[in-house]
Amino acid sequence: MIVVTGGAGFIGSNFVLDWLDAHDESVINIDKLTYAGNAANLASLAGDKRHQLIQGDIGDTALWEKLLAEHRPRAVVNFAAESHVDRSILGPDAFIQTNIVGSFKMLEALRAYWSKLPADQASAFRLLHVSTDEVYGSLSPTDSAFTEEHKYEPNSPYSASKAASDHLVRAYHHTYGLPVLTTNCSNNYGPYHFPEKLIPLMIVNALAGKALPVYGDGMQIRDWLYVKDHCSAIRRVLEAGRVGETYNVGGWNEKPNIDIVKTICQLLDEMRPRSDGLSYATQISYVTDRPGHDRRYAIDARKIEQELGWRPAETFDTGIRKTVEWYLQHPDWVSQIQSGAYRDWVNANYADRAGMDKACA
Ligand code: NAD
Ligand code: DAU
Repeated sequence: MIVVTGGAGFIGSNFVLDWLDAHDESVINIDKLTYAGNAANLASLAGDKRHQLIQGDIGDTALWEKLLAEHRPRAVVNFAAESHVDRSILGPDAFIQTNIVGSFKMLEALRAYWSKLPADQASAFRLLHVSTDEVYGSLSPTDSAFTEEHKYEPNSPYSASKAASDHLVRAYHHTYGLPVLTTNCSNNYGPYHFPEKLIPLMIVNALAGKALPVYGDGMQIRDWLYVKDHCSAIRRVLEAGRVGETYNVGGWNEKPNIDIVKTICQLLDEMRPRSDGLSYATQISYVTDRPGHDRRYAIDARKIEQELGWRPAETFDTGIRKTVEWYLQHPDWVSQIQSGAYRDWVNANYADRAGMDKACA
């Protein structure tokens, strides 16, 4: 069996669902169930004996000791993290605790477990650490895309904390021989994406008749990958990645934010037209920029393609259409997410931004 951490979040829950679609190998899912963790993402697995969700913290050594002794996993896939850049700007503490201290505690627990495994199990064991392209910093419009050799230059508390965890993972391989793999992926989108991030926020705000808050000039570029493609890349790296290596994962889909927002508006205009006949694009508001906003990310995904034969299955056009359809088909999931705590976050992040002339909260 395998352990997945953070498997009730956006990417983790997609990964668990896809894994159990493709395998009968059981999953123990450790998730703290923070605001971003949602057991409802895994509702379709109710009663499925191959999956067990344990509410717990990756920094809890006693939990790790018990769980590793009891279940003896052959692999751990680490998704657990604080993941939102804007939250890291307003409150970095949780990012340091989970992404750095939590990762360290997890590594210590795994080292103790792995070092006592019989030789054949020890050499087959894997820790796959899921990381981000943001550790590489920001590109100019003419820079080449990030390769695995790009220097680390994180710019936000979030990306700095992820960079720290990547370095710890690397060091545990180099120093102790722990068999690790690291993936650095670009921006994901798709089902179960928490509506604090650009794409789901724009969909839910548009449908609610609220402002669509575009930071700065909206010309920042991200490289978008449909979440199921990220999950297939992780499965492939876990299966065949070379121990100690890092693999960049991306969709070859660089787009400015404003184009993303306009595409979502066009899809909604087609699938759920506004009753007044106006386009959702009339709800776009340019607002005060994110402090330290990275201008451009782009992933060079040739290594994973050439070594492991992985390529994304979705184009941006197919993936974004599926995503908008998913949100239209899951209004209950959206309304369950929009608790008081969610409204507090929206207020904290947006209320004071110039340009928020239309009510967002
Ligand atoms: P998310 O915020 O949706 O989910 C994170 C999950 O981790 C939640 O379920 C949360 O409850 C859990 N968690 C948080 N702290 C924990 C702790 N201390 N112990 C146990 N569980 C904890 O994040 P996501 O977007 O699904 O990202 C998953 C991983 O992928 C993160 O490591 C992130 O850095 C990385 N990543 C994300 C993207 C993206 O575009 N979303 C891209 C590249 C890499
Ligand atoms: O690149 C991978 C990273 O992508 C992951 O490591 C992070 O966990 C994930 O959150 C994501 O980070 P970004 O900061 O790129 O994603 P976000 O959806 O927050 O923002 C995408 C872009 O849209 C970014 O340039 C900021 C902009 N934006 C975002 C929000 C929430 C807006 O213009 N308005 C908004 O309201």
